[in-house]
Amino acid sequence: MIYDIVAVRGLQVLDSRGNPTVEAIVYTEGGGCGRAIAPAGASKGKLEAVDLRDGGKAYGGMGVTKAIESINKYIGPAIMGMDASRFRDVDRKIIDVDGTPNKSRLGGNACVATSLAVIKAAADTSDTPLFEFLGGKRARTLPVPLMNVINGGAHAGNKLSVQEFMIVPAGADSFSGAIRIAVEVYKELKKYLKEKYGPSAINVGDEGGFAPPLELTRDALNALIEAIKRAGYVPGSDVYLAMDSAASHFYRGGSYEIDGKSLSSGELIEYYLQLVNEYPLILLEDPFAESDPEPFKELRSKLGGKPIVIGDDIVVTRKDLISKYFESGHIDGAIIKVNQVGTFTEAEESLTYLLRRGGKAVISHRSGESEDTTIAHIAVAYETGLIKTGAPARGERTAKYNELLRIEDYLGGDAIFLGKNAFLR
Ligand code: PGA
Ligand code: ZN
Repeated sequence: MIYDIVAVRGLQVLDSRGNPTVEAIVYTEGGGCGRAIAPAGASKGKLEAVDLRDGGKAYGGMGVTKAIESINKYIGPAIMGMDASRFRDVDRKIIDVDGTPNKSRLGGNACVATSLAVIKAAADTSDTPLFEFLGGKRARTLPVPLMNVINGGAHAGNKLSVQEFMIVPAGADSFSGAIRIAVEVYKELKKYLKEKYGPSAINVGDEGGFAPPLELTRDALNALIEAIKRAGYVPGSDVYLAMDSAASHFYRGGSYEIDGKSLSSGELIEYYLQLVNEYPLILLEDPFAESDPEPFKELRSKLGGKPIVIGDDIVVTRKDLISKYFESGHIDGAIIKVNQVGTFTEAEESLTYLLRRGGKAVISHRSGESEDTTIAHIAVAYETGLIKTGAPARGERTAKYNELLRIEDYLGGDAIFLGKNAFLR
């Protein structure tokens, strides 16, 4: 009874790029309230759930009033009276009402906001933090943050082909310790980039990382190593590196346009192997294009888990694609972005599929984000051990880190931090 959904509303708000996005608000009989905001990607996989946008003149066509209407006219009435604590049933209903394979009728943005608002309303009704509502008392592992501190590709206006260069403070012994290391490295990186490339090099990109006028992958990796050392840490034991190549975006006509060269898949494999020899890389995301899955398998087998190979655009959080490429040995795990599939339950199925088989699930933000902190709770609830949510800067990124700091504080001495072990195959 107390969990029964009594009201559902949609509201147009803004994301971190200044684009309209969907907020859903769900109320329960017991006085619980959940609000959630849909994020938005810029470098999307082709098979992702589709957001509904208004088109036309207002907001440059980016308005979401049609998606809001989906919530108010279709999703809301369909889930009214349902039990929010049985959120998987609620999501099934949303999936049925939409009826398309990619949420194109109701809009992925309408679906994801409502789906997440439902779990938050249920947790609020039971007066339990969301991570505990979903994961129970055993959920106490804080994730290792993968922090994108140099932005390239579709997220910046520079010439870097690789989209994200991340620092991974896995040598810390707690989540708060990892944040401290990351912030100190981030500050040194800022000083170094300014010194070497001038003041415009410290402008930040969409995910809070710097977007310096670099051209080569090694230039970015060298800058990270320099910053780690200047901050007084040891690369490869205190702090590791990770890259999201988002390689679909530099794959043209069957070759990879990277670092001023045009490489075949085989040559790109060799290039990655060289980089892995030179730098303490612990994770590679989307090293090849989504339309070129084969080389994932060869690279992964040559690397033997060091670093692990993770799929994003190639699997778009879909369980059918994740299981296919995980079973065939193409990937060690996947990026999990709830809005790529459109409902929480579908993302939950994908991440539990991986975790039960020893695979990796990296809970992730999008480049267009908001103050919504749901992903911080999801990472702890399922003890994924890994989260990717940008640099330790820009409010929509720090919102997630701050929520994780609160959760760590709430758990006190019970909190666990896996450090480097979170990356073991
Ligand atoms: P997006 O990219 O959120 O801009 O789609 C993030 C990523 O590729 O991981
Ligand atoms: Zn990615």
